[in-house]
Amino acid sequence: MNISPCNACLSCMHKTLGVCAVEDDMQDIYTELKKSDVLCLATPVYLNNMSAQLKNVMDRSICGMQGFLAKDRFGRVRHTFSWRMPARFLLIATSGFPEMETFETLIATYRAQALNFGSEPVAAMCVPGSIALQMEPERLDGHLSLLKQAGFELGSKNSIDGDTLRQLNTPPLTADQYLTAAAKYEGWLRRKLGETSQG
Ligand SMILES: Cc1cc2nc3c(=O)[nH]c(=O)nc-3n(C[C@H](O)[C@H](O)[C@H](O)COP(=O)(O)O)c2cc1C
Repeated sequence: MNISPCNACLSCMHKTLGVCAVEDDMQDIYTELKKSDVLCLATPVYLNNMSAQLKNVMDRSICGMQGFLAKDRFGRVRHTFSWRMPARFLLIATSGFPEMETFETLIATYRAQALNFGSEPVAAMCVPGSIALQMEPERLDGHLSLLKQAGFELGSKNSIDGDTLRQLNTPPLTADQYLTAAAKYEGWLRRKLGETSQG
């Protein structure tokens, strides 16, 4: 989709309440946001946070906020709303590096965003290690089944079991397994760079 950054014209707060002046594909996302129960943020980790494309979507969603200020349920000063974002937010993310630590800033951002919009951050599901997983994709099968299970639980019970979440947020590869699989990628990369420099 083609989604421009917010240009801070504040037309949504000062002129046409709750309506964004920028005419691009975000207009279709506003329609979906207003009728959805859950917003699932799905992103690769780029430089420890969500992709710039997804950040644009979140920035542009500020259009649902009014210029007026009030205390939220935590006593923090926040904007009132022209329209509400989905009541519940989920996060699904992947990263190139193998450690869960790589998601820390992203998870903090996702939680803060949900709370700024008066929504509930329900669950973060983060699967690290894609540089190695692309060489041994079968190691991802268990996590893909768990993701389906999490979706089923959310749909049928309105929440995701703690055990499902714990397993989902356990890296599919140990550091040593990661290094072994990543070495295959590095071998492929050396061959590719060799071919390129010869060509
Ligand atoms: C510009 C850029 C920045 C990245 N920064 C990080 C990073 O900070 N930490 C990390 O673990 N992976 C990083 N990665 C790796 C991606 O998270 C990884 O390749 C991921 O699998 C991309 O998602 P995709 O497979 O859906 O394309 C970065 C990738 C790119 C292209």
